Amino acid sequence: MAVILLTGGAGYVGSHACVALAAAGHSPVLFDDFSNAREDVPDRLARLTGAPVPCYRGDVRDPAALGRVLAAQNPDAVMHFAALKAVGESMDRPLDYMAVNIAGLVTLLGAMEAAGLRRLVYSSSATVYGVPDVTPTPESAPRRAVNPYGFTKIKGEEILEQLAASDPRWAVGVLRYFNPAGAHESAMIGEDPSGRPNNLVPLIARVAAGQLRRLEVFGDDYSTPDGTGVRDYIHVMDLAEGHRLSVERLLAGAPGHVLNLGTGRGHSVLEVLAAYGRAVGRELPYRVVPRRPGDVPVYCADPARAEAELGFRARRDLDEICRSSWAWVRGQAARRA
Ligand code: UD1
Repeated sequence: MAVILLTGGAGYVGSHACVALAAAGHSPVLFDDFSNAREDVPDRLARLTGAPVPCYRGDVRDPAALGRVLAAQNPDAVMHFAALKAVGESMDRPLDYMAVNIAGLVTLLGAMEAAGLRRLVYSSSATVYGVPDVTPTPESAPRRAVNPYGFTKIKGEEILEQLAASDPRWAVGVLRYFNPAGAHESAMIGEDPSGRPNNLVPLIARVAAGQLRRLEVFGDDYSTPDGTGVRDYIHVMDLAEGHRLSVERLLAGAPGHVLNLGTGRGHSVLEVLAAYGRAVGRELPYRVVPRRPGDVPVYCADPARAEAELGFRARRDLDEICRSSWAWVRGQAARRA
């Protein structure tokens, strides 16, 4: 049983990882600046896990704030979720992305080293593959930056590789997420983007909730079965389990790993819309608009290495993703009313 510090722990993936860790008997500690998380998430997590979840407010670019939480909580490992992650925004504000995602990582690593702590699980992204030559994509595929966000994730991976090569005491788990979606089954935590969402499932949720008239489908002339883009949607609780397995492997003394976290199965935009419609109980409206610049036809994980190295396998399907998302969105609407 370990104490795990979660930077960005009040955010979407971090909060679900917190639940998975607590359920396995670990003690999660949150560090978050609440720039893209609600203030009441730590309370919700405490109710959900049945125990208080210590939470420190701070920015990953602030070494003193990091030093304080490391000294006070003496964690056994860190999961680093705190980062910016919107592709379009990264093209408008590349320096912010470099400051938070790259300088923030380096600051965190420095604070960890000063505290004698060298076990880290790093949130990377399938975006490091750029436009992949092969799908399902294995971890050995080349990395290519196609926007500043992707650039920062590749640089993060490279920094961690250099560090681990320079000092074998570092054990790093690099986890490349495909498309996380859905919510915890309790509907007490979920994805809650501030402002207009960019990603498909939260946008469909807005259509279902009547906040958006219809979904705009970005292109139906791709070389896919129904012509719309195909992605590997992974339930956020499966993703959370992957993080728990990764950190447990590092805590057991393993040297580190680079792993895709996906299901290995792709679904088209229209399949996701239909599945969400089933969860809601009615068909949801859409119209086809031109392709979104920079989109690729198909993104899908080769999940074999994660299964071989961690015994990880995504268990929840697209219907469960949609049902849990809808339960969360409806619950939020009821709480706000
Ligand atoms: C996007 C990012 C990716 C990032 C990931 C996680 C781009 C080009 N890629 O991935 O780098 O790692 O989010 O945050 O932004 N779609 C519609 N209509 C919409 C929204 C989306 O048809 O209104 C389609 C897209 O064309 C795509 C699929 O839905 O085929 C999924 O889109 P999205 O949720 O934005 O994820 P990615 O494009 O895979």
